[in-house]
Amino acid sequence: MQACRSLVVAAASRHGGTCEIADRLATTLAEVLPEGWTVVRSDLSDLRTLDGADAVVLGSAIYFGHWMHSAARALSYVKDAALFDLWLFSTGPISEIESENAQIISANAMVTSGQAIEHKVFGGRLDTSRLNWIERAAATAVHALPGDHRDWDQVDEWARHIAEQLGVVPARPGGAAAS
Ligand SMILES: Cc1cc2nc3c(=O)[nH]c(=O)nc-3n(C[C@H](O)[C@H](O)[C@H](O)COP(=O)(O)O)c2cc1C
Repeated sequence: MQACRSLVVAAASRHGGTCEIADRLATTLAEVLPEGWTVVRSDLSDLRTLDGADAVVLGSAIYFGHWMHSAARALSYVKDAALFDLWLFSTGPISEIESENAQIISANAMVTSGQAIEHKVFGGRLDTSRLNWIERAAATAVHALPGDHRDWDQVDEWARHIAEQLGVVPARPGGAAAS
């Protein structure tokens, strides 16, 4: 019988769009991981929830080119631990071109140094009705396009890809590649 193993999904979000991506990742992972795995959907208020996990998926919305503070803090927390398999994701770009340009230096550096397995960038959601006037002005200044640019098939595909990389479900030919 396989030992119990746990995977934690945690993310920082200001207006909920990234939270919903983390929710979906956790749901899909819970569906595809085999018996013996528990998926925990956690917030970032108590980083000790990451202790003891076998795998962690950590994400953040991008604001002004950076991860949100709570996610950056979590990244520092896990940086030295390196006790679990770690996947990172960012949400924010609201067009394909911006997606190519999105560079979250700290997350990319962790992949390069081998501390994280992958850093995935997902499209975000810009709902101007949820923004305060400062954010609305900033979004206009950077020519951000309002709308929901999240691709749920892409999110599901990445969750399955993580399960494959954990080596607990068979890899499919032509599965998701890192971005
Ligand atoms: C004021 C403001 C600044 C933003 N800055 C960036 C940015 O620098 N890069 C980016 O890719 N997206 C940026 N975005 C887009 C957000 O990251 C995107 O809307 C994201 O999905 C929001 O996630 P949340 O709903 O979880 O807060 C910005 C949005 C706002 C409102």
